[in-house]
Amino acid sequence: MKAAVMYDYNTPLVVEDVELDAPKEGEVLIRTGAAGICRSDYHFMKGEAKTLLPVVLGHEGAGTVEAVGPGVSTVQQGDNVILSFVPNCGRCFFCTTGRANLCDLHAATAGTLFDGTMRLHKDGQRISHFGKVACFAERTVVPESGCIPVSQDVPLGVAALIGCSVTTGVGASVFNAQIEPGSTVAVVGCGGVGLNVIQGARLLNASQVIAVDIREGALEFATKFGATHSVNATHQDAVARVKEITGGRGADYTFEVYGSAETVETAYDMARKGGTVVVVGIAPVGETAGINAVSLVREEKVLKGTYYGSARCHVDMPRIVDMYLSRRLDLDELITRRYSLDQINEAYEDLEAGGIGRGVIVF
Ligand SMILES: NC(=O)c1ccc[n+]([C@@H]2O[C@H](COP(=O)([O-])OP(=O)(O)OC[C@H]3O[C@@H](n4cnc5c(N)ncnc54)[C@H](O)[C@@H]3O)[C@@H](O)[C@H]2O)c1
Ligand SMILES: [Zn+2]
Ligand SMILES: [Zn+2]
Repeated sequence: MKAAVMYDYNTPLVVEDVELDAPKEGEVLIRTGAAGICRSDYHFMKGEAKTLLPVVLGHEGAGTVEAVGPGVSTVQQGDNVILSFVPNCGRCFFCTTGRANLCDLHAATAGTLFDGTMRLHKDGQRISHFGKVACFAERTVVPESGCIPVSQDVPLGVAALIGCSVTTGVGASVFNAQIEPGSTVAVVGCGGVGLNVIQGARLLNASQVIAVDIREGALEFATKFGATHSVNATHQDAVARVKEITGGRGADYTFEVYGSAETVETAYDMARKGGTVVVVGIAPVGETAGINAVSLVREEKVLKGTYYGSARCHVDMPRIVDMYLSRRLDLDELITRRYSLDQINEAYEDLEAGGIGRGVIVF
């Protein structure tokens, strides 16, 4: 089967034939239907984050169950599933205390399946599975707990987006921040994930949703998802402008959704006294953000991160699906570009060049 393999950082992905072993105990073979072009994979391509090499990237995916390994009982052949990039072990401290998105065993076995081995290889060389999803490939083997069954009514492109950007973005607003109705919100970075933070804020009836980006096209697009104001950070002092829009106070909730120390600082500075700053973007490894230590105290700001929208995938993804089917969330409109697997490098060039909305690989 064909997969896009990354052999090294800062080199193009190689789309080539690789071998995939059959699913073992508790694993599922998936025929990939769609895979989203998320910036998280791009951080690895650029070496801003590190992984086991060579690797098949792709963590925003959905597909159809083709076969199940021994002991699998929650999905069967023919089911459509959303893939979770944090399949959970069900037994560690975090899984048993309701925070399966932070599963310890998943983190300890990064790049492999739960038993510490890989199913992907080529010419005797093992290839790692990014996020236990590895969906930049025609097929993939994933843990059973990484499969969230989804109705055939949901197009696989939309299901793929629920696998990362939608759950992460909507979850940041709804599950993590739990924005109160009438609040003011600023979102720094309005790409695939930021747009979903924005529609999460709309869902919770925020009064002002201020989109902040460096690209006019992204700002314009954000208004379709509920942004009430836009601030182009290239042309103006974004912190000053957000304060001005919020009556000089700063926003009740701010979100960093690009992934840099600088934008974390911007989001922090835009929050009002007692405001909440939620960091969603993944800054390059080793970067540290400078936070005014005194303001943290005197202004009682709350600074926190959110991984996977702080969602409980098996409970919250079906809720997101229901909100999509009842038209409370606009997910079809998020997809603005479609590519074949052969065009994967082009898809990432478009992300870098500032394509609005989300690109998707369709199989
Ligand atoms: N926390 C999580 O679980 C999680 C999950 C998915 C993605 N992420 C991270 O979220 C971030 C966003 O991902 P994405 O796929 O939406 O990326 P994207 O490339 O689609 O969007 C990023 C947006 O940020 C804008 N931007 C760039 N520099 C900016 C600046 N200085 N000020 C304001 N805006 C700026 C870009 O123009 C673009 O619109 C990435 O760091 C990604 O790794 C985190
Ligand atoms: Zn992602
Ligand atoms: Zn666990």
